[in-house]
Amino acid sequence: MNKIEKIVDHLQSQDPNKTQYTIGELDAAAIATGHRSMGPTVSKLSRIDRGLYDITGVIVPISKSYDKPLESAPTLAREVRKTVLVDEFKASYIPQIDGDFVKWGAYKDVLKIVKSRFFYPIFITGLSGNGKTMMVEQAAANAKREFIRVQISPETDQDDLIGGFRLVDGETVFEKGPIVKAMELGAILLIDEIDRGSNKIMCLQGVLEGKPILIKKTGELIEPKEGFNVIATANTKGQGSESGKFSAATIIDEAFLERFTITIEQPFASLVTEEKIIMNHMKAFGKVDEEFAKLLVSWADGIRKTFYDDGVDEVVSTRRLGHIVQTYAIFEDRMKSIDLAIARFDEDTKNTFKELYTKFDATTNLAENTGESNISSGFTTNPNP
Ligand SMILES: Nc1ncnc2c1ncn2[C@@H]1O[C@H](COP(=O)(O)OP(=O)(O)OP(=O)(O)O)[C@@H](O)[C@H]1O
Ligand SMILES: [Mg+2]
Repeated sequence: MNKIEKIVDHLQSQDPNKTQYTIGELDAAAIATGHRSMGPTVSKLSRIDRGLYDITGVIVPISKSYDKPLESAPTLAREVRKTVLVDEFKASYIPQIDGDFVKWGAYKDVLKIVKSRFFYPIFITGLSGNGKTMMVEQAAANAKREFIRVQISPETDQDDLIGGFRLVDGETVFEKGPIVKAMELGAILLIDEIDRGSNKIMCLQGVLEGKPILIKKTGELIEPKEGFNVIATANTKGQGSESGKFSAATIIDEAFLERFTITIEQPFASLVTEEKIIMNHMKAFGKVDEEFAKLLVSWADGIRKTFYDDGVDEVVSTRRLGHIVQTYAIFEDRMKSIDLAIARFDEDTKNTFKELYTKFDATTNLAENTGESNISSGFTTNPNP
């Protein structure tokens, strides 16, 4: 058993009916099984809320005997007949409704599509951190639909998607991949960051037509069950990244893109919506500062406008605003939170962003020193400390 399986096994032995654990409980279980802490392994679990995780996906079911005869199966398949399929439903779950999620933009449409149970592949494109993945996950949560998420990377291939042979306890088994699982379950399949893939993901072409797939290695034909659908997200439209901003973005085969019924272009949330999102983050982190929330979203909005006018090369995303809010909950210092959260940008960008913020926020030193007022994004509040 690997680390996560040991931890889950330990938890199950304590209470077989409990599936949700706090990070503290997981750390304790990690220590009990001889590890220093849960650490990054926590990413193997489904996060259902801040600091709360669900172990269902990792519970290893009692191995099912794979005894279905495979009449037309090739030789290789015959060898697998006596083997087992493990972790068959490992990656699927109905996502939890996140109380902090703010419904906006295309959410309603995505929810309708998900509820329709049609096979209706959609492609969602938009800049990083503007809520694409969360929107799809929350639509599945609200529609109470089984959900499988696959993250695409340049290394992702047929084996990762359709499945492949694995060695389990000295025995060769064919493990079904997430695509096959989603088809069999009639689940919503989220293919995240599809524009990071190489031509090794071309095996998805047939899947995007709603056609059955033949697992050549076992001779099994998998029919998509009613309700199966594919939703893909990307930072580009599959034409590569013109600006070079998404250096790993690839050009997606035209025929591949053609198979998506519609494309949703996701912008950043409006000021009002983003303020709600940021307020929810502040409440969740236990540090509410409404004035700071307003300043942050106006600042981010100003930066985005400058970005669209080619004035800066980077943007501050909704995700990054969330990072600032979390940092603020720890240090209780506005400027320090911004400084730390934008330190990943190059020197010029960082300085420009900082300078823009100080023009918004009269409580910051630079603004006091320069006496400058707000930047030209229509933001007029000059808050008092
Ligand atoms: N509508 C929303 N309500 C609440 N929080 C949100 C919302 N949209 C985005 N967020 C916050 O922003 C973070 C990033 O969102 P998400 O991961 O969905 O972005 P993304 O568009 O998929 O980014 P990427 O392109 O990098 O994958 C979320 O984890 C959440 O904290
Ligand atoms: Mg995403």
